[in-house]
Amino acid sequence: MSGQQWKNVSLACVFVLLTFEAYSLPLSTNGRWIVEATTGQRVKLICVNWPGHMQAMVAEGLHLKPLDDIAAMVVKLRFNCVRLTYSIHMFTRYANLTVKQSFENFDLKEAIVGIAQNNPTILNMKVVEAYEAVVDSLGAHGVMVVSDNHISQPRWCCSNDDGNGFFGDRYFNSQEWLQGLSLATQSLKTKPQVWFIYLLYFH
Ligand SMILES: *[C@@H]1O[C@H](CO)[C@@H](O)[C@H](O)[C@H]1NC(C)=O
Repeated sequence: MSGQQWKNVSLACVFVLLTFEAYSLPLSTNGRWIVEATTGQRVKLICVNWPGHMQAMVAEGLHLKPLDDIAAMVVKLRFNCVRLTYSIHMFTRYANLTVKQSFENFDLKEAIVGIAQNNPTILNMKVVEAYEAVVDSLGAHGVMVVSDNHISQPRWCCSNDDGNGFFGDRYFNSQEWLQGLSLATQSLKTKPQVWFIYLLYFH
């Protein structure tokens, strides 16, 4: 590459970094772009994945570090967004299960001790409240959230034969899916940092 090309590349990098820095909520759309509702300025979502759709239905790692520390780490790593996954059944079937009960169901004794140390307020929350607490902490750190209904059953996603994939599959009930999306919306709609993904199966 010529010197001029390198210069263009480095300018592009600076531009990208600046673009990533600041944004104001709420966001909106303009054609294919995500924009600030008030100014129309484009906003780019730089999301890191944070799984919350596994069996225990609790965002992973809360037994290892305080929630606020994890949110701060997301910012430090220069992400402005988290794609936070959940399972539909967390809302439709297990909403009233506490984090502690959910861990007990899988005999996760060390995780219970860890969460009691690192995130004591979360231990006795219901799993849906814990999901909201993660969203709130990320919001307090200026991090946007793409709330992703990753799978119907709380479990590892995905394989071609897990029965969660599409209409007519054993564990994909479209009525329950819609109910779960509706409950998720009710739970999170007042939080301006949240974007929803309403997809079937987000491979
Ligand atoms: C949770 O409890 C409330 C209040 O008792 C009830 O209305 C709701 O249906 C329960 N949700 C689930 C998913 O069991």
